[in-house]
Amino acid sequence: MSSPKLQAPRGTFDVLPDDAERRAGIEAAARRILGAAGYRRIETPAFEATELFKRTVGEATDIVSKEMYTFEDGSGRSLTLRPEGTAPVCRAYLEHGMQKLPQPVKLWYLSPFFRYERAQSGRYRQFWQVGIEAIGSADPALDAESILLLAELLEAVGVRDARLRLTSLGTPASRAQYREELQAYLRAHADKLSDEVRARIELNPLRAFDADHPGTREVMQGAPRLLDRLGGEDAEHFAQVRELLDAAALTYEVDATLVRGLDYYTRTLYEFTSDALGAQSGVAGGGRYDGLIEQLGGPATPSVGWAAGVERMLLASGEQPAGAPVVDLFVGYPGEPASRAVAFKIAREARQAGLAAHLELAGRSLKGQHKQAARVGARFVAIADAQQVALRDHETGAEQTVAPDGVVAAVLRGRRAS
Ligand code: HAM
Repeated sequence: MSSPKLQAPRGTFDVLPDDAERRAGIEAAARRILGAAGYRRIETPAFEATELFKRTVGEATDIVSKEMYTFEDGSGRSLTLRPEGTAPVCRAYLEHGMQKLPQPVKLWYLSPFFRYERAQSGRYRQFWQVGIEAIGSADPALDAESILLLAELLEAVGVRDARLRLTSLGTPASRAQYREELQAYLRAHADKLSDEVRARIELNPLRAFDADHPGTREVMQGAPRLLDRLGGEDAEHFAQVRELLDAAALTYEVDATLVRGLDYYTRTLYEFTSDALGAQSGVAGGGRYDGLIEQLGGPATPSVGWAAGVERMLLASGEQPAGAPVVDLFVGYPGEPASRAVAFKIAREARQAGLAAHLELAGRSLKGQHKQAARVGARFVAIADAQQVALRDHETGAEQTVAPDGVVAAVLRGRRAS
């Protein structure tokens, strides 16, 4: 009886070798762009105390209320596979006393995250993000610079049709006042709202701006806007962020209806979408979170950050074929065990000399070995006998016979000559 085949869990995916090459390209672009601006890499654990996300992302959010993978460990602690990176990085900042370093502390990460979401194209249950967190400065230049870095990364990885929307949420105090005004407005129009929005007036009235329901959308067109209610300092901060973005000639649209699914944001809030994506058009997003570190028991520490979805960046940049890896040398042998040992040794010496060398590993016939060498695109093919090696340069067509310990030198010479 044959066992049923197992598959990866729904909403997850394997990173196959071609995908891995494309992902390495994103990682290299992130390291180059973020490193040049003074960001240094950080990686936090894949799971954290559940409390960390409840306190910061917010109990009323979809993420905390229905999307977390939460479990108890052997000693009954509640742990959660991280659904996002901001709270863990802030936890690490406090835990390692980074407030003593020159501020802002600028960190970047490239890690997997976990959300129990409805799986579809561009939306997974394990997905990867490149993100930054710049902790410890309220300077609007930090907001503007971080947005520019994100724009640069999206451009470098070839995200097509990226569009930036930007708004400001003000401080928690101005938001609380606005929230009451919005709730009163929603209650006054409750009969036209969807059941879901109506049920969430008290808990999360801002989500009404996000609704697809036609009646709700119509009501929201006349709703009061937070952006029009910003206090003096908040308005000034936003004006300065905009001024700097304008100075850098970055195109954006101010969208007062922008909402994001995390509760920790204050002041600047933004999202990049790409029309090259389908329904899940958000490719990256972020903003300020001036109160988050205090929520974790630290001092007032204004901060800003963003995250970009790796899979969405790949989708939005189209299928760019991964560059085939370069293979300098294929080492084969006629079949006898003695010649295999010679081939084995030549491949090892070639790698020690910095060459990319493939060894015959499947007992193929000589004809099969030549085919395999062509398939991997090897420039040189060496067929090793115990005493001598037939070496062919497929670029020039030149053939020569060399001693086994002369193969590497001959390949290096051949490479230099062309
Ligand atoms: P977020 O908007 O929840 O923000 O996620 C950022 C990006 O991660 C999204 O724009 C999207 O590209 C990708 N993403 C989110 N969920 C999924 C999913 N289920 N499948 C595939 N990709 C997904 C945050 O996580 C914040 N921590 C960003 C931030 C950093 N804010 C301040 N600092």
